[in-house]
Amino acid sequence: MRILLLGRGGQVGWELQRSLSVLGEVISLDYDSQDLCGDFSNPEGMAQTLRSVRPDVIVNAAAHTAVDKAESEPELARLLNATTPGVLAQEAKALGALLVHYSTDYVFDGSGDAARNEQAAVAPLSVYGQTKLEGEQLIAASGCRYLIFRTSWVYAARGANFAKTMLRLAKDRETLTVINDQFGAPTGADLLADVTAHAIRHVAQHPEHLGLYHCVAGGETTWHAYAQFVVNTARQQQPALELKVQSIEPVPTSAFPTPARRPLNSRLNTSQLQTNFGLQLPDWQHGVARMLQEIL
Ligand SMILES: NC(=O)c1ccc[n+]([C@@H]2O[C@H](COP(=O)([O-])OP(=O)(O)OC[C@H]3O[C@@H](n4cnc5c(N)ncnc54)[C@H](OP(=O)(O)O)[C@@H]3O)[C@@H](O)[C@H]2O)c1
Repeated sequence: MRILLLGRGGQVGWELQRSLSVLGEVISLDYDSQDLCGDFSNPEGMAQTLRSVRPDVIVNAAAHTAVDKAESEPELARLLNATTPGVLAQEAKALGALLVHYSTDYVFDGSGDAARNEQAAVAPLSVYGQTKLEGEQLIAASGCRYLIFRTSWVYAARGANFAKTMLRLAKDRETLTVINDQFGAPTGADLLADVTAHAIRHVAQHPEHLGLYHCVAGGETTWHAYAQFVVNTARQQQPALELKVQSIEPVPTSAFPTPARRPLNSRLNTSQLQTNFGLQLPDWQHGVARMLQEIL
């Protein structure tokens, strides 16, 4: 199997380099790759890359993920999150290739408190959410074979993430204030990458299971409870670690105004993925504790 991995340097892309390596030959590209175009701001260049590599599977981990910045550069966000993925889908259709893509809980408005399934009504609140939704729609409309995984609150040992920011602040400050009215599940890039590899193998035998899935770790939390978990777990794992923080204060989203609106309820129902692929999604604490052990 020949696999083309796009966005190899991101959180999920990095883990995909590991998880896809057992499936076949992996050709991986970034936006600044030299021999082949990996730059999503150049849709024609990306189309040429697909025509020249002729992959069996395309895994797209590249995206415009700067949620607040996207509000002031919607054209670039649309190009990276919608137009170019749509071009990839058309090329995948022409090649007969499988396209794997990632999307987000930000396609929803986050009203209510129930976990949404794949059929729930979409209503993005931000440019990022809107352009990611358009990407999903272009892929679905292309007629290619696809898997789209909507996920949330992604972290990885590599790169910047919320847990690392909390640890840094906890070293410097006695009091932290963290949002406690957004609910979701922190999801490891490693978990997403592993699910992706399993799913690629599975749909080769079960094409009836192609399509859109929600894929997040089990359980739920708030950013505030997540921060508490990070600090408490870090103290348990590394008693010698000097953390100044004494108190983590809960505050509403309104305490931190941002250019992009974020959904309050990011709970995603993953039953369809677990049933169709015969997989189990571990509780979020499992992966976060493991990531902390790696970075501490
Ligand atoms: N992060 C989250 O919390 C989250 C939540 C829900 C869904 N998702 C989705 O999950 C997927 C993977 O996200 P992630 O967390 O791994 O994001 P990430 O770490 O930001 O990775 C995105 C990658 O895309 C690259 N990229 C940026 N501009 C590009 C361009 N013009 N051409 C090619 N590549 C370009 C980035 O490169 P640079 O780093 O050099 O800019 C980066 O390597 C995305 O589809 C994202 O929308 C993420």
